[in-house]
Amino acid sequence: MKQRIFFNEVVTRDGFQMEPEFVPTDAKIELVNALSQCGYAKIEVTSFTSAKAIPMLRDAEEVMGRIQRAPHVEYTVLVPNVRGAERAMDIKPDEFNLVMSTSETHNLSNLRMPREKSFSALRDVIETFGASVPINVSLSACFGCPMEGNVPQQEVLHWSQRFADLGVRGLTICDTTGMAQPTQVAAMCEVLQKQFPSLQLTLHFHNTRGMGLANVLAAVQTGINRFDGSLGGLGGCPYAPGASGNICSEDAIHMLEAMGHDTGIDLARLLPIARHLSTIVGHKVPGQVAQSGRITDLHLPPAYVHELKKEFS
Ligand code: COA
Ligand code: ZN
Repeated sequence: MKQRIFFNEVVTRDGFQMEPEFVPTDAKIELVNALSQCGYAKIEVTSFTSAKAIPMLRDAEEVMGRIQRAPHVEYTVLVPNVRGAERAMDIKPDEFNLVMSTSETHNLSNLRMPREKSFSALRDVIETFGASVPINVSLSACFGCPMEGNVPQQEVLHWSQRFADLGVRGLTICDTTGMAQPTQVAAMCEVLQKQFPSLQLTLHFHNTRGMGLANVLAAVQTGINRFDGSLGGLGGCPYAPGASGNICSEDAIHMLEAMGHDTGIDLARLLPIARHLSTIVGHKVPGQVAQSGRITDLHLPPAYVHELKKEFS
């Protein structure tokens, strides 16, 4: 069945946060402005975290304040606590994306507090700002934790239910370090859609072990139609050992479009932006379609093929 599939571009947040060299503020703004013209449903622009924890995103106010917003794009920002929400509120984002981990050890490593404390900090944000800004909650390490190992599905359902009870608009189920496999993804997606039919459900995969696009496909086949992706496949959580890139937006979009799904994205516009990304970050990026071209981009055959065609006609 062909589906309308919605993409949230996270390159300037998840994508950049682990980059070693600071990406200048103007370059971030130019990139968000260019991405805004490509047909994304949503762009996660930045995060209002502590500058000590994530120095790359210390210019959150300026970036959010200076981007040109396109009418059909939602601009979301990651917010870790009330302090971050207060900072972000002035710039009127279209959504707050709150984050905590389903793994106790990963939560301690990333957010420096137990899950219960994170939950109550995020509940404060929801109770204070939820009437003014739609809230999404990203749950990390839902398919496994690099320090604890298996994260039971029940754990993911438990935290999802607690946030659903607080009236959030959406949940993003994150495979923070690329431990998910397609059978597990399909089972998780089935049960989440059954349990939370009225929530916006987004899946967030990393390609750490080459299973990223297989996991997207497994999710789509269960009816999931929202994904996070990062241009060029950049990204990773600085507080998760072995973390590496998100699924590459343009590769995932290219696959889904080739299958006949409608992502709303103009790949002809997006690919040149993806090709410019390595200049912004100063190194090669993992994305493949930007290097190889689309399956519809044909090449001239070698000259002798022309001769052979004549000879065998
Ligand atoms: N914006 C700016 N600074 C913040 C802040 C925010 N939202 N929240 C806390 N801070 C500052 C505090 O002022 C304090 O600074 P100081 O050391 O100069 O006094 C420092 O951060 C620690 O404050 P504290 O109240 O102990 O923070 P906390 O323990 O309640 O929360 C987090 C810490 C979660 C805010 C911090 O660990 C963080 O931002 N982590 C990054 C998480 C992340 O984005 N990970 C990757 C994405 S999943
Ligand atoms: Zn991620």
